[in-house]
Amino acid sequence: MQQKGIAVFPAKKIATKVKHQILESCLKAWGGIIINSNAGRQVRLAFVETCCGSGLYAPGDDAKPDVEYDAGSAIIGIETLNALLSHGRSVSRDVSGKALFINENAEELETLNATVAEHFESKASYRLLPNRLCDVVKDVALFCDRHFAFLLIDPYGPSAIPFSVVSKLVSLSRADCLINFPYYSVHKWIGWLECDSHEGATRLAIVDQLTNGDGWREIALRNRQSGRALEEAILDHYMDELSKLGVGAMSIPMTFEDKKRTMYHLVFTSRSTAGLANAKRQLQQGEAYQAALKGKRPTKTVFRSFIVFSDPGCRRTSTCRRDVRLCTCGFIADEDKNSKPRWRAHLGDADSGLSDFVCGR
Ligand SMILES: C[S@@+](CC[C@H](N)C(=O)[O-])C[C@H]1O[C@@H](n2cnc3c(N)ncnc32)[C@H](O)[C@@H]1O
Repeated sequence: MQQKGIAVFPAKKIATKVKHQILESCLKAWGGIIINSNAGRQVRLAFVETCCGSGLYAPGDDAKPDVEYDAGSAIIGIETLNALLSHGRSVSRDVSGKALFINENAEELETLNATVAEHFESKASYRLLPNRLCDVVKDVALFCDRHFAFLLIDPYGPSAIPFSVVSKLVSLSRADCLINFPYYSVHKWIGWLECDSHEGATRLAIVDQLTNGDGWREIALRNRQSGRALEEAILDHYMDELSKLGVGAMSIPMTFEDKKRTMYHLVFTSRSTAGLANAKRQLQQGEAYQAALKGKRPTKTVFRSFIVFSDPGCRRTSTCRRDVRLCTCGFIADEDKNSKPRWRAHLGDADSGLSDFVCGR
């Protein structure tokens, strides 16, 4: 929908509703944990929306008649940041917050600016960057310097987020990231691996850039007989590349409206065990919300995690990759739920949430 000077995205589909619910709950809990665990210190929060769009969606069929627009991630981000600042003040903490909105389409960004200026009394300051993400990575790093940062990386398709860009953002010292991994494009383009064409070569090169090299090609050829095995292998490969940066990663699939097929995976990365424990809960709730919107019961497999584990006994470092199953104690459970934990999380400090990453193998 496009009125003069206003860029509005079409009404949200289920995956977008779920993505926004996950963003809001992750951001709220992220800020809450940081504020509550830094008593007596100055807390600086930064939210970065790297592909923010206009922040406006057309209202859905279920919206009340007086609702003009539905909020996109940028509006959700600044509202949540404002709520965190209010929370900080209510508990007498010294908290500041700011947001950075990046988008390659300047008109969309202008719509966002006008909306925030007209409709919100924003306590958090914000800055707009009408650029492509790959051209402003240094600006993002400067913006996040000496801040706890939460970054959303959510473009259309795979070409906007080469690993060279994502890795720099994920590696920022105190950054948690929520990343759209556009699996469906990878899946569609796998057929080009066996064709000799210029068009195919271009697409395959985009996937090389997305996944940090051409290692995915051999994995795809090896697993292409089974859609499920293929998806797991490609996702594991991507999360493996992320975990080499020293972060823990976990993900849930976001599916098409009317099919079971995965459109993209939402991947969360953090260095903090508390951050990962919190994200695990939010992703689980997001999964349940997605199932409810589709009128289904949540499946048993909730999301995948990829966390570097170390065995304190032999000092060998290993990686743990397996489906994470719903489990009331919050432990990551393997097929054999009765066996003793063997690997311990080796991420950040031993603060709350560590027990969530004791592997039940
Ligand atoms: C899926 S929409 C994002 C929607 C927004 N994250 C939300 O959930 O409300 C993708 C947006 O990213 C912008 N975009 C795509 N590639 C980009 C890039 N390389 N750098 C910055 N913005 C980009 C597009 O203009 C589009 O508005």
